[in-house]
Amino acid sequence: MARIFAANWKLNKSPREAREFLEGLKNQVPSGAEVLIFPSAPCWEAVAPFLKGPSLGWGAQNIWQEAQGAFTGENSAAVLKELGGGFALVGHSERRQIFGEQNDLLNRKVRFLQSSGLVPVLCVGETLEQRERGETNSVLESQLSAGLKEVATASRMIVAYEPVWAIGTGRVAEPAQVHEAHKLIRGWLDGAGFKGSQILYGGSAKADNAGELGRIENVDGFLIGGASLDVASFVSLIKNGLGVSA
Ligand code: PGA
Repeated sequence: MARIFAANWKLNKSPREAREFLEGLKNQVPSGAEVLIFPSAPCWEAVAPFLKGPSLGWGAQNIWQEAQGAFTGENSAAVLKELGGGFALVGHSERRQIFGEQNDLLNRKVRFLQSSGLVPVLCVGETLEQRERGETNSVLESQLSAGLKEVATASRMIVAYEPVWAIGTGRVAEPAQVHEAHKLIRGWLDGAGFKGSQILYGGSAKADNAGELGRIENVDGFLIGGASLDVASFVSLIKNGLGVSA
């Protein structure tokens, strides 16, 4: 199965900058990689023509759990689909922390995405305080069981392990920590019937750590913030993460 390299652009890039990035990325994605781009909503239409084909895709950073209606400021799954998007992040730690999104809301989003034929990328991860209190495993299990409650197991599902303390901080998780968290997530997913789900690592992933992290069992790819904003750093991360020489 192809290894996923998912770019979370957050609130960065205009439509013009998004097009320039994707022009630059053209023909540079090595085989064996599936590249997914998550731009802000005003860039959806700009990225769509560039991201067609089996190893390319794109999606929303956040979706509301109803297709339309009186939901000021929200993003619609129906619009995403109409433009050709196929994926959506759910429960990124910035959504959980800054926007106060809780597990039950995230669960409704996951189920709505599935029923809309979109692939959810459910983000889970512990804060530094939770890790220091020894709560990492219980936090991950509760985020998984709440987020995936009553979710159909037959459709494609992607989970991203993103320790909150490693996001945007330059502080990457230790290989042993990534190994343990991904093993726990795999065990949980297998036990709940989500066989074949893909598990991404996110949190200060960069070209110089992607090789080592990419070799860890149950790491099926990366969710990348900062290092996905520049074509050269994104492409070197992909090559290192795949283990192909640059
Ligand atoms: P980062 O962000 O790579 O800049 O740490 C990752 C993320 O927020 O998904």
